[in-house]
Amino acid sequence: MFIIQNSKYLDILSKLGIEGAHPGGINLTKEIFKRENINRKSYILDVGCGTGQTAAYLAYKYGAKVTGIDINPTMVAKARRRMKKNHLPIKIIQGSAEKIPLPDNLFDFIISESVLSFVNKPKALKEIFRLLKIGGRFIAIEHTINERLKKEEENEIKQFYGFDSLTMKKDWVALMKLAGFEHIRIQKNTSIDSMLNIHYFNDIEPEFYDIMRKHFNILSKYEGKLSYRIYSCTK
Ligand SMILES: C[S@@+](CC[C@H](N)C(=O)[O-])C[C@H]1O[C@@H](n2cnc3c(N)ncnc32)[C@H](O)[C@@H]1O
Repeated sequence: MFIIQNSKYLDILSKLGIEGAHPGGINLTKEIFKRENINRKSYILDVGCGTGQTAAYLAYKYGAKVTGIDINPTMVAKARRRMKKNHLPIKIIQGSAEKIPLPDNLFDFIISESVLSFVNKPKALKEIFRLLKIGGRFIAIEHTINERLKKEEENEIKQFYGFDSLTMKKDWVALMKLAGFEHIRIQKNTSIDSMLNIHYFNDIEPEFYDIMRKHFNILSKYEGKLSYRIYSCTK
C-alpha cells in the first residue's frame, strides 16, 4: 500500500491535463540534458515522473533506456498512456521514491523534477544513491527557500503544496552529502519561467480553479523567498 501525501495541489495536477509540472518546464529539462553525456546506452530513472513528459523526451531524443516511477495512480495511468501512444518502450512503475523496487547500481542518471519537496528526503536520497551506478549522476530541480520564513509563512506553503519541509540551499547540500553524493553543484535559473504547461480544462470542478488561483497567489506572495535550484551531484 502506498501512502500519498495530503496535497490538494498534487491531486489537481494529476486530474488536470498537465503535460509537465516542475519549475522551468520542459525547456529547462532540455537545457540541462544538453550538458550531460546521454546516449542510447544510458539508463535513466525519472523519480516522481508525473505524466512522463521528461521520460518520454529522454527516450525519444537520445534513445536512452528510461524508467519512470510515481506514487500517484492517475499520474501513472497518464504516463503509461503517453508511452503507449508514442510507441516508447518506457517502463512506468507505481511506487514510492522512498522505497523503489529496483536493484542497486542500475542507472547512469536519475532525475527528480519537483518531487523531493513532497517526500521524506533522507529516505528518497538514500534510495536514489543506492540505485545509481558508481560515477552516475543525480540531477534535481527542486524548490528552495532563499531565507528562513516565519512559522506561519512556512505552514501556509507546506500545507498548500503538501511539502514535507521547506529547504534552503545549504540544507539540500547537507542532505545530499549525508546520502553519500559528491561534487554537488547548484545552479540558479532565472531565464526560464516556472509556468506549468496546462493542456486542457475538460470537466474541471470550480474547486480546481480555486486551487490554481491559490498556487499563483503563493508564487507572487513569496516571490524572492520561494524559488528553485538545479542540483547535480555524483555517486
Ligand atoms: C509537482 S509533480 C512533478 C511531476 C513531474 N516530475 C513533472 O515535472 O512533471 C510531483 C510528482 O511527485 C509525485 N510524488 C509525490 N510523492 C511521491 C513519492 N513519495 N514517490 C513518488 N512520487 C511521488 C506526485 O505524484 C507527482 O507526480
